[in-house]
Amino acid sequence: MMATETGSVVFNPFDPKFRANPYPTYKRLLEEAPVFQSPLGVVLSRHRDCESVLRNHRKWSSDLRNATDSGFEPNLDLFDLDRPFLFLDPPDHTRLRSLVSRAFTPRVVEELRARVQVIVDDLLNAVSEQGIMEVIDDFAHPLPVIVISEMLGVPSQSHSQFREWSAELAKSLDPELAAQPEAVERQRRAIALFDDLFKELIAERRDKPKGDLLSALVQAEEEGDKLTEGELLSTCRLILIAGHETTVNLIGNGVLQLLRHPDELQKLRDDPSLAGSAVEEILRYDPPVQLTGRIALEDMEFDGVAVPKGHGVTCLIGAANRDPERFPDPETFDITRGDDRHLSFGFGIHFCIGAPLARVEGQVALATFVRRLKSPELLTKSPKYKNFVLRGLESLSVEFGGMRPAGQR
Ligand code: HEM
Repeated sequence: MMATETGSVVFNPFDPKFRANPYPTYKRLLEEAPVFQSPLGVVLSRHRDCESVLRNHRKWSSDLRNATDSGFEPNLDLFDLDRPFLFLDPPDHTRLRSLVSRAFTPRVVEELRARVQVIVDDLLNAVSEQGIMEVIDDFAHPLPVIVISEMLGVPSQSHSQFREWSAELAKSLDPELAAQPEAVERQRRAIALFDDLFKELIAERRDKPKGDLLSALVQAEEEGDKLTEGELLSTCRLILIAGHETTVNLIGNGVLQLLRHPDELQKLRDDPSLAGSAVEEILRYDPPVQLTGRIALEDMEFDGVAVPKGHGVTCLIGAANRDPERFPDPETFDITRGDDRHLSFGFGIHFCIGAPLARVEGQVALATFVRRLKSPELLTKSPKYKNFVLRGLESLSVEFGGMRPAGQR
């Protein structure tokens, strides 16, 4: 894709400046070209336009096999078979989603809060003497990996292996990284390695079911008409990857924003009951998933810009979350805002199934971080981002002057 110009707005997702900080470009798109014709299809920035696309799944498909415009999805051939349900429409989407949704209801997830607290405290205890922590590697990454692996039933010895495979698959979402030579080959290999791991675990569960989500899915597969073995594998892969790549970024982006806004950090330290609202504001202000796409199932248009059947639209979540029509004073980071109508978990039938879990992990991680670390200071001044679509930091070093013990204020 090339840089595209409409009037004075330049939208180029390959520009390093844009990748480091996309928000000034979003602001200009909202002001000057909220419906923007790019070589990859129409790009939408307004909250109401993005919401209406995501709401209207009968007109807007998540299944890229409906795309006639080949520019939209570089790695289409990766997904010949058994696409994860994120990329499917009803009725297959409905059937597969319903098999896992029970594991992620707010009530079930709330019961995990105490376990999340133990993991968070253990991770902080492990670095408490060091005076410096690497927030991504020591904290933001291990937490969601441990939580989702325990839910699904993946043993901890596999964690370091699938970190690499998962990062490889996350790259397929970023047009620049996906265009690298051999990217498709590396991604195919990552899928094969995931599937080998899960095939082994599935065989174990068939022999001896446990109380985990994998056992429940294996049982559904054995009952016959609910899901095939291919769908079982694609669902496991989806949950394992979606369950951690994004949550790492919520915690990493959250620590960064709190350290950049010391008054907001102090508010959270003084009043831990603000954790829920702080997490919503981090999600709004610096969302871990910056965009999502849909394919028109019939001829559509926005503000007179046509989207023919089979063409794609991109919904810029990061821009919609700062739409002044929807959020007063959108450029201000305010953890007391108390507004959860951002689009960071999507909207409609594909609304993130893991949202309750991500919220609990984010709340416990960030509230505990600000409570326990004394005088945290940011050492990484110009953080680098791994990926444009999944906005996550490569690394983030923080210095601190000691740590309060777990469970004390
Ligand atoms: C802060 C963390 C997270 C963010 C920002 C996030 C974001 C999103 C978004 C934007 C979507 C919708 C995509 C679309 O409509 O095109 C989505 C779907 C999904 N998410 Fe998350 N997610 C997070 C954490 C999780 C967790 C912890 C899980 C865990 C199990 C998870 C599992 C899923 C699944 C399975 C879907 C597909 C839902 C469907 O197609 O019906 N996510 N997520």
